[in-house]
Amino acid sequence: MPPLEPSISVELRPVRPDDAPGLKTLLYASMSDDEVAEQIAKAIRAQREGKELCLVALADGAVVATAMLISRTGSVGHVVNVAIDEAFRGCGLFGRLLAEFKTVAGPLKLKRLRISAEPENVAALKAYRKVGFCEIARSDGLVRFEMPVGR
Ligand SMILES: CC(C)(COP(=O)(O)OP(=O)(O)OC[C@H]1O[C@@H](n2cnc3c(N)ncnc32)[C@H](O)[C@@H]1OP(=O)(O)O)[C@@H](O)C(=O)NCCC(=O)NCCS
Repeated sequence: MPPLEPSISVELRPVRPDDAPGLKTLLYASMSDDEVAEQIAKAIRAQREGKELCLVALADGAVVATAMLISRTGSVGHVVNVAIDEAFRGCGLFGRLLAEFKTVAGPLKLKRLRISAEPENVAALKAYRKVGFCEIARSDGLVRFEMPVGR
């Protein structure tokens, strides 16, 4: 995987309301502005309750990637809503997002992370395997992956 150009600095941080336009382009194209704002507000509320972490990656102030960690029950966290701007694919951004999720997995008392993708989504399947997810099942039209985290 080629590293990002040294001149391009990508910052990761939790989502904020002003990320709405960027997230609409990247992830929520089919939603209205109000629906996007509600999704973000929901994520921020869940974040405050320690149940979720929605990260955005920014380059030059623009949202170029996002992913969310959800941990509603038990010791399994689910990584969902993964999207990387086409211009920023193939340079390790998913690995950086995942590294942040691994950091918070301990405090959230998570033992495993899961992620899934449609079997046709070759880029996602490859990207998830590359960062260490192992396939555990194929069900309901999805390939399901898992990795241990924490101790
Ligand atoms: C899935 C996604 C997050 C992966 O991020 P990424 O930065 O592209 O991941 P990587 O480049 O690290 O890995 C993708 C691999 O798939 C390969 N790939 C990409 N498109 C491919 C295709 N159509 N056929 C075969 N391989 C493909 C890449 O070459 C790369 O392989 P390599 O590491 O051997 O070169 C990104 O492609 C994306 O945002 N896609 C659109 C949204 C999406 O599908 N989200 C996931 C929903 S489950």
